[in-house]
Amino acid sequence: MTRSKIVGFERELPEFTADNFDLSKIVDTSDEWITSRTGISRRHISTEQNTSDLCIAAAERLLKKAGWEPETVDLVIVGTVTPDYQTPSTACLVQAALNLENAFCFDLSAACSGFIYSLSAADKFIKAGGVKRAVVLGGETLSKITDWSDRSTCVLFGDGAGGVLLEATEEECGILFEDIHSDGKKGEALTAGYRENRNPYFKGEPHGGKFIEMNGREVFTFATRKVPESIKHVLETTNTSPDDIKYVVLHQANTRINEVIARKLKMPHEKFYSNIERTGNTSGGSVPIALADMESEGLLEKGDKIIISGFGGGLTWATMLIEL
Ligand code: UT7
Repeated sequence: MTRSKIVGFERELPEFTADNFDLSKIVDTSDEWITSRTGISRRHISTEQNTSDLCIAAAERLLKKAGWEPETVDLVIVGTVTPDYQTPSTACLVQAALNLENAFCFDLSAACSGFIYSLSAADKFIKAGGVKRAVVLGGETLSKITDWSDRSTCVLFGDGAGGVLLEATEEECGILFEDIHSDGKKGEALTAGYRENRNPYFKGEPHGGKFIEMNGREVFTFATRKVPESIKHVLETTNTSPDDIKYVVLHQANTRINEVIARKLKMPHEKFYSNIERTGNTSGGSVPIALADMESEGLLEKGDKIIISGFGGGLTWATMLIEL
């Protein structure tokens, strides 16, 4: 059976960082509130780069490290809700910058689950046989859709991108199983980027909603209910004991969410990798950035079984069991 093997992890973060003290000069907040409620101390914020720049830098390093020639890439997917343009897609901008002339390319919108949805889509193309090599990225410049006067959201988010290469294999490794869901009826709990219709015939009222708006408590309750259910489903269906899982890499939204999920799964908290302290919530970027950080910290080894899980806007949530 053809599977999708994961070849390398990379990430790119803007150079500039703002810590909680910096933000307390912009809005009425404190380091104490932000760290105790979220676990975040600082976040990277773009001063020049757009989403495509971050994605291109990560993809370029991935290809170089793996020694893949540009023309051997068949597919590029970018999970993002902050593309540079609506068209061309961020994935097409990556293609152009890196001369991936034989690839077909598209962006995928699933907010904080965007990278795992993108992995899932790429895995299906590989299993269907038409694609042998794919570049899968998750990247955001959330700072451009953040309301910098709203303390309840602007302290949470950061910019950054990460990604992996996927390659068709007949080995029993890579993406082993997934559980993937949406609940559009709860979408109003987390919205961003509404685009007003300004045609000369339009009679509707202005809508608002350009910037991120979130009912934090509702999203917290959703995440701590649905994610453990999803992880349990993946473990049970694949007959995998929690002891066989080396790490659980959740979307980095809040350390308190990690703690509740670890408790519900009765898994040691140390298995839940976290880098949110230094990155904030980077939405579609968070899981691949965490994986790249883990690799550079020497935490990942061939044969490791890892759970990755994203949750957020849509609402969407998605869990994967992967073997390195
Ligand atoms: O990435 C997509 C997925 N997103 C998530 O998973 C986020 C899930 N939600 C959360 O992580 C948490 O709900 C938040 C971190 C967003 C908020 O924490 P909370 O404990 O739910 O706080 P809250 O929104 O209930 O606000 C509590 C209080 C309020 O004041 P009052 O009404 O109690 O007087 C807020 O006005 O904290 C106030 N507050 C702040 N105070 C200082 C809200 N933001 C701030 C702030 N600094 N930055």
